[in-house]
Formats: sequence, C-alpha cells, structure tokens
Amino acid sequence: MAQVPSNIAFIKYWGKRDEKKQWPTNDSLSMTLSGMFTRTTARLTDAHDFSFALNGTPLAPDSAKGAKIYRHLHFLAHELGTRQKLDFTSFNSFPTACGIASSASGFGALTLAALAAFTDSKNLEELQQQGFDAKKLAQLSRHGSGSACRSMMGGIVQWQAGATPESQAVSQLFSREHWDLNDLIVILDDTPKAVSSSDGHRAAVKSPLFAERMERLPHRFASLVEAITARDIDKFGLLLEEEALNMHAVAESSDEGLRYMTEKTHAFINKFKELRKRWGLQAYFTCDAGPNVHLICEAKTVENLTKILHQEYTQLKILHDEIGEGPSLQVADQGIGQ
Ligand code: PMV
Repeated sequence: MAQVPSNIAFIKYWGKRDEKKQWPTNDSLSMTLSGMFTRTTARLTDAHDFSFALNGTPLAPDSAKGAKIYRHLHFLAHELGTRQKLDFTSFNSFPTACGIASSASGFGALTLAALAAFTDSKNLEELQQQGFDAKKLAQLSRHGSGSACRSMMGGIVQWQAGATPESQAVSQLFSREHWDLNDLIVILDDTPKAVSSSDGHRAAVKSPLFAERMERLPHRFASLVEAITARDIDKFGLLLEEEALNMHAVAESSDEGLRYMTEKTHAFINKFKELRKRWGLQAYFTCDAGPNVHLICEAKTVENLTKILHQEYTQLKILHDEIGEGPSLQVADQGIGQ
C-alpha cells in the first residue's frame, strides 16, 4: 500500500511554460501535510487494461476524472517499458468532494503504487534500489499532476522550474522538525470546483498581471525562505497572504475571468482578519484553486484559534492537519500492492 500526503503551497505553481512536459513557469514551495493523504493499492491483473476505483467507486477511462488517471498509468508503463496491467483501489483519508485539492496526494499515491507493483518492490528502500528515489518519483508523478511532485518529500519542499524542462528539480528545503506548522482547513463549500486547475494554468499566462507576478516572485520566494529559516511567523504569514492574493488576482484577471475564491471566501477572510487583530492571533491564510481557506499557524496557536473560530461560527467545518514526513510504502508478501 502506497500512502502519499497532500501538500499546501506557500508559493503557488500557477502557469505552465510547456504543458506537454509539465514545465512550470515558476518555482513553487509547499508544506507536505500529514493526516490528509491518499492510500492506493495495486495488484497485477491479466485484464487487457488498467482498472481504478476511488473510495469504492470504479472510474471509467472515458470519464472526466478517469481520463487523466488512465493517461498517467499508460505514461508510467511506457516509461518503464512494461505491458503489465494493474488493478488499483484508492482511498482519501479526508472527506471526498470537499473541494480540497486531492490531485497531489492522489497522483502521488497512484505513481508510487504503480512503480512498486511494476518493479515488485516491497518498500521505499527496495524501490530506491531499483532506481526510483524520491527525486525520480517526483519527476514521474508530476506528469499526472504538477503539485504531486512536491508530495514525494516531507517537510517544506521546493519545485524549481530550471532553465529547461529537463533541469526542473524537486528538493526538501526544511525537514518536518524545523518548524511545527499546522494547517486548519476551513471548509466553506464542499462541492467539487467548477474550474479545474489545468484551466487555471492555461489562463494564467494570458493575464495582464502575469508578467509582473513573474518579476516579483523570485524576491517573494527568497523572503519567504528567509522567514521560514528564522521561524518568523508574522513575516512568513504576510508573504503567504500576498502570494495567495496575487495568484487569485492573476486567475481573476485572465480573459476567462476564473474565480476560485467566492463571496463566502472573501467574507470569511475579512472576518478572520478582524478576529486576528482583536485576539492577537498569529495565523495567516492561503487558498488554492478552490473556495476553501487554509489557516497556517504554529502548533501553539491551534487550540485558541479553533476556539475563537467556533465561537464566531457555530457550524464551521474545520479539518486540522500539520507538517508531515512524506510518503510511505508497505507491500505485504502475499500480493503486490497489499
Ligand atoms: O497540480 P495541479 O495541476 O492541480 O496545480 C495545483 C495548483 C495549486 O494547487 C493552485 C497551487 C500549487 O502549487 O499547489
């Protein structure tokens, strides 16, 4: 069984220089989560094609969600030069259709389970001996979903775009132990998002704000890394918010006028900022390609922040997670992918 956690981006991957090669326009940085993960099991089969079920429901290759998954499986088989077919079962640890980006954990776990089965590896060490270390796993998983590559390592992870598609690289910048960051995910809307992140990447490069974003990003990236190095939560938090708002400004100002943050998101962020000021809370927000809000803070802030949020909103759904270790792989002897 392959277990791969999700991640939350501090500097967003937003835009591709080359869609086919999954080459991003900019370097990105994220925190690998812990409790929000996908578990995937792969078994060898005599069937003529792959099969895949998510949370007990089979996904057909011609379904909107299924197409990307089956395409990635054929890509992996081609990379390994194998004709073997596999049967996958996959489960998310977090509520499904919750509008939380699950593609990072999903494609990460799919890649890891497939490679373990293709190479008959029982754990990460055996997989590494076959030539598939974390960097290689990252390079392969990004073809399913770009953000998946950062989930292949724990702690705080950077994905460098590099000067060519071939020189892009994923590496751990800080281990989990460096900083006890937590993520309170506030679920404002639990319906699946209407606009995919693929559409967002395509639209981003056409925004009139995109060139300015590219110009400012290296400095924002360096300042954020400085703040993380110094464990300076306030400096870190202001940069985190600046980056999230900038990414969403780019999405909204593109020709297509993509809107991921809704009225509810804005209303919540305004209220949250008011509460932060009133109670002196050291917590900061970021949003991915969806309406839900991630509140990032140190472990010591979680209890108070949760209490204050529940006082203000009696029905608020909050998922709590923290910085994590990265993927794991355990395959039982009796069957591949068990
Ligand atoms: O990996 P994708 O193609 O689903 O893109 C992810 C985009 C964001 O989640 C918005 C940002 C990021 O870096 O994770």
